[in-house]
Parts: sequence; C-alpha cells; structure tokens
Amino acid sequence: MTIKVEPFKNNIGASISCDLKLVDSKIIDQIKETLNNYGFVCFRDQNLEPGEYLKFAEQLGKIKEYPMLKDLENYKGITVVERKENDKGKSYGEGWHTDSSYLNKTPKYTCLMGKVVRNDQGQTLFASQLASYEALDKITKDKIENLVGIFSSAGPISATRLEREAEIGTGRSKDFVAEHSIVKKVGEKKTLYLSPGHTIAIKGLAEKESKDLLKFLFNHQTKKKFQNSFFWEKNTIVIWDNHSVIHSATPFNGKRVMHRIILDA
Ligand SMILES: [Fe+2]
Repeated sequence: MTIKVEPFKNNIGASISCDLKLVDSKIIDQIKETLNNYGFVCFRDQNLEPGEYLKFAEQLGKIKEYPMLKDLENYKGITVVERKENDKGKSYGEGWHTDSSYLNKTPKYTCLMGKVVRNDQGQTLFASQLASYEALDKITKDKIENLVGIFSSAGPISATRLEREAEIGTGRSKDFVAEHSIVKKVGEKKTLYLSPGHTIAIKGLAEKESKDLLKFLFNHQTKKKFQNSFFWEKNTIVIWDNHSVIHSATPFNGKRVMHRIILDA
C-alpha cells in the first residue's frame, strides 16, 4: 500500500489517504514524518472498530492513561469524548490548549475519531507552534529560550470537562501540576510549548511579569495566520503532535461522540 499526502494551506496540517487497517512499519514512519512536517494529519473514511483503532494506535506509540475520565468499557486506552443532547456548557476541549500538559510526561500524540457526528457539528482548530515560534523576533526568542512554564490541570480548560467528570470522572481533576520548558524541539525545529488552557505562570518571574509575558505569548501563538481547521465527519481520524500544535474545539449543538487515544512517542 502507498499513501497520498496532501498538505493544507500554509503547510499547517495535511490529509493522508490510506487504509489504517493495513498500515505497516514503513507507513507508520511516513505518518510520523508527515506529523513532524505539518503538525496534524487527517484520515477520512476509516471504519475501525475500537479494537482495530487501538491496534493502529499501538503502532504509533505507547498508549497512555488519561487520568481524568474512565476508559471505554473493555477497551483500555480509549476515552469517550462526548457531548450530550442536553449539555449546557462549552464543548469538551473548547479553548486553546495542548493535551494533558499538566503531566510530567506529556503525551506526544493524540488520536481522535468521529464515531457519532453530523457534518454540521463543528471543527477542531489547530495552530502551528512551529510557525508561531519561527515568527517570534530574536529578542523574544532569546528571552524565552530557557524559561519554564507551570502547567495545571485546574487551568481554565478544566471547566469544559465538568459534565463528563460528573458522570465518568476519576475524581483527579485538580491533582496535577507540572513544569516544562516552553521551547521544545520537534525534529530539527523549535516550537513554542504553551497551553493557554493549562499554563498558569512562568517559573521564577514576578507575578505581573509572568502574567504579561503569558498574555503576549498566548495572543501570539493563536494568531489566525498560524491556524487551520478541518471539519468533522463520522469515521474521520485526526492525529496531532501535542508538541508542535495547540488546538481548540469549536461550539456545536446536539449529541456528538469521539473516541480519543493519547500516546507517548
Ligand atoms: Fe484537547
């Protein structure tokens, strides 16, 4: 089997045409290379059962426990990300963030699969942090080179989990705080690693300086020129590199169900 890669606008994201039931190690390497280059990849029409989805994901990395919600019954490693018909709050994950950045070892990849979804039910937005880092001026790059951020699971994005946590939560929603360098390397390039939904301070800076710098960097990293989105369909799978893009769900109405897997590299 060969795969076809089609980059999206400005080389932020790409679609890949292939059958994920038939991937081998050579294709997995090509998918990882595409993720390195474009940050997120989108596969349409992948009719995978949960067991097949886990089998595919295991080839990409080590499946990681999501500490906030219980797994799909009988399928350890799959989190059900659901919006119910009568939910009132924001969509799960609505607001810019990178997944589980409050853990000491953060997930490299996230896979998300549309299971119950209408074609008018929202997009996921991605912002390239390869591009946002590159666009910073030299003075800012030098200033942030060795800075460390403080990331908390009680950050603002936690409000979008409340309805699901009340039903299938593990009770650990406020347990985690981690520190990470805010400049990371992905391949040979540098990225800006901040999560507006979780990053609460810059270590070692006075409160006002930390707040002002985060405000400037959050505003910078989410500029429209670094963004692309794609629309959801049933059986679409999207994979992203949490170290090179940040993402945000967008609002929609009605029931929608996704299956999510997070992975260490
Ligand atoms: Fe997310």
